[in-house]
Amino acid sequence: MNYNKFTSIKNGDLICSLDDLIDNKAIVLEEKNNYLPGLIVFKNKNIIKIWINDCPHANLSLDLIKGKVQSNDGKLLCANHGAKFDPESGICIKGPCKKKYLTNFPFVIENNNLIAGN
Ligand code: FES
Repeated sequence: MNYNKFTSIKNGDLICSLDDLIDNKAIVLEEKNNYLPGLIVFKNKNIIKIWINDCPHANLSLDLIKGKVQSNDGKLLCANHGAKFDPESGICIKGPCKKKYLTNFPFVIENNNLIAGN
């Protein structure tokens, strides 16, 4: 998959440090270029997922309020039309794109860092 239309991060680039992540908190990595949606990084214990910040309903970033992509129940929430996603599987569990998935972004862990690529 070509990720260029989603993020400026390329294979081998540093995404973030494991130390930047808190259990059950999603962080949004914004792009300097506002036309790119960027990434959402989610960690829960040993599970780390990186999703493209691009809702499958209407291909908009989930965060209308910059950086806020989680509802109080810990699910990922698209503020545009209310789709809710399981943060571990990426599946939409409620809303207009139910059963569709967020797009996974590949990474590896090296020296306590998340690095783009697979
Ligand atoms: S763009 Fe996400 S629910 Fe519509």
